[in-house]
Amino acid sequence: MSVSAIILSAGKGERAGFEKNKLLIELNGISALERSICCFCLPEVDEIVLAYAKRDEEDVFSLLRKYPFVKPVLGGETRMQSVFNALSVASGDIVLIHDGARPFVKKETVINCIESVKAHKSGIPAVPVSDTVVCLSSDGLSYPVRANTYAIQTPQGFLKDEILSCYQQAERDGKTFTDDSSLYNAYLGSPTLSKGDPTNKKLTYASDFNSETERVGFGVDTHAFGKDQPYILLGGVKIPCESGLVAHSDGDVLLHAVMDALLSAVGLHDIGHYFPDTDETYRGADSTLLTKTVLKTVLENGYRVKSLSVAVQAEKPKLKNYIDRIRENLASLLDVDCSAVGVSAGTNEKLGYVGEGKGITVYATVLMKKA
Ligand code: CTP
Ligand code: MG
Repeated sequence: MSVSAIILSAGKGERAGFEKNKLLIELNGISALERSICCFCLPEVDEIVLAYAKRDEEDVFSLLRKYPFVKPVLGGETRMQSVFNALSVASGDIVLIHDGARPFVKKETVINCIESVKAHKSGIPAVPVSDTVVCLSSDGLSYPVRANTYAIQTPQGFLKDEILSCYQQAERDGKTFTDDSSLYNAYLGSPTLSKGDPTNKKLTYASDFNSETERVGFGVDTHAFGKDQPYILLGGVKIPCESGLVAHSDGDVLLHAVMDALLSAVGLHDIGHYFPDTDETYRGADSTLLTKTVLKTVLENGYRVKSLSVAVQAEKPKLKNYIDRIRENLASLLDVDCSAVGVSAGTNEKLGYVGEGKGITVYATVLMKKA
């Protein structure tokens, strides 16, 4: 049996609110529409029919130069009309009706759907819902048993002649349906569910296009020995040392590198901008408090810390016995599990200013997650 995939892209994408059809918006450099087309470029699919809108003609035809085997057909005012127009030109025995707005559909979902149509005349990808679903009617609320409740996706597969006759009947009856399976159900009885996939998400709102959830930040700081003080501070931990680090603040070179990494991850200026060393307010400032201020700022910018990795370069003092305390201190400061904080320390093999024992340099990398 031959298979036609129908990709629907003739909507306006009004809820997404972009200047153009949401399907023409790129996700990591490739438009949602192109991604959807690629999902059906499979040996199991014999034909791809694309329903598009006149207003998108230029963009669609320019894209189709890359996919000359795709058959374009003008869509209609409603999704139902677009499906109907596409069904009228589809040549397959089996049709897979797909919302172009689901560009992440996997090959297995498509194959499951085709197999289901071959065996049961229809295949509707469904995934169990994790929320409790409630139906509101004039009699009040009714609660379907959650274990029996599914969310329905596309592509939805049917025998072309069957679904076409359902559409013709619906048109005669002037009835509207929100999807193809409910229309099939109204005229031919229950369709068969096939295995869907939770990652087969539909793009509806602008926020659905924002796939970026993580950010990386990198920071470096150096301070020279020379302060008349018998300790240094690293990550808020006091470590005995023959000399302290010279700084306008308390000289916690490690926290300074961490703060720069945090600010850099969200595209903000460095600590010198927020806590200038020309400002007397920050003379001897407690870097732990400064770090708390920075954390609040990055949180206001929508991100929280997921993990931190720090490398300290110091010829002296010996840090081995302090590493775990530094890690624990950083973990509690950043509000992450201790296992998400790594601190390594090493000498510079007597090379350069670090090797000559003149100062300490710290490198910090943070991974941030959308809060
Ligand atoms: N669609 C279509 N023809 C229409 C309306 C919708 O081909 N007249 C397509 C859309 O392009 C989309 C799919 O049907 O791929 C599902 O519709 P939806 O997510 O509602 O997209 P839009 O209708 O474009 O969005 P909106 O309702 O927010 O305007
Ligand atoms: Mg719509």
